[in-house]
Amino acid sequence: MEGIFKERLDTVFIRRGISTHRRVRRLLQKHNVCVNGSRILESGFRVNLASDAISIDGIKKNLAPDIYIMMNKKAGTICSTKDDGLYKTVYSFIPQKYFDYTNENSLQKIHTVGRLDTDTEGLLIFTTNGDFSHSLANPLFHVKKTYYVELEKSESEEKRKFLKEKFSEGFFIPAEKNEKEFISRPAILEWNRASSCRLTITEGKFHQVKRMFCAQGNRVVFLKRISIGSLALDEKLEAGDSRELSSEELSLLFK
Ligand code: URA
Repeated sequence: MEGIFKERLDTVFIRRGISTHRRVRRLLQKHNVCVNGSRILESGFRVNLASDAISIDGIKKNLAPDIYIMMNKKAGTICSTKDDGLYKTVYSFIPQKYFDYTNENSLQKIHTVGRLDTDTEGLLIFTTNGDFSHSLANPLFHVKKTYYVELEKSESEEKRKFLKEKFSEGFFIPAEKNEKEFISRPAILEWNRASSCRLTITEGKFHQVKRMFCAQGNRVVFLKRISIGSLALDEKLEAGDSRELSSEELSLLFK
């Protein structure tokens, strides 16, 4: 799992403006690039910028480590970099010291790991590490995402039991707009009351939670992501607030 927090040396050099795609191999052949004192010739060598010492021709390079932020997304905000004039973007809520990373031309560009709908609240992760966000979103990793859900209609005890079973098996979800139909993966449904529950899924299709309940004849009226993997949303964060994640918290995302 430690490998997920590492990045390829060529990606690091390109994203930090030290080299370009075309030149990175030549840089490694012609110059003495060392990681923790050992000469590296392979552009795919993986480094952890938080702990590995990198030097070029004996000069130590202080390369900024990647950024990982947890936000409690506010309802009524969009996970897009462009303001649509109607809703504020989630990027306008990140602390000002990271604003440079939102710039289109920034070499270390910050982005959200997946998206939440405009009306969805809760746990949203931002990072500058593309490998990390791909791994977290990769269906092969089966990363769990848990949502607190409120429904329009109350369900009888019998129907709640039926739905719990149905969600644990997976079922047909019809197409929506340009999104294809699919069979949901087994999910864990835990009822709190007749019209509210927690749902844990391991995939992230467009409007997934809403479509799952809609396919079963109900409607989601409130949705909040409360955890990813074993990392819970920090309830001390007010809506719209964010803070950096520790490396222990990062590894919880994959557990
Ligand atoms: N499922 C949804 O329907 N919406 C979200 O924002 C996240 C999961």
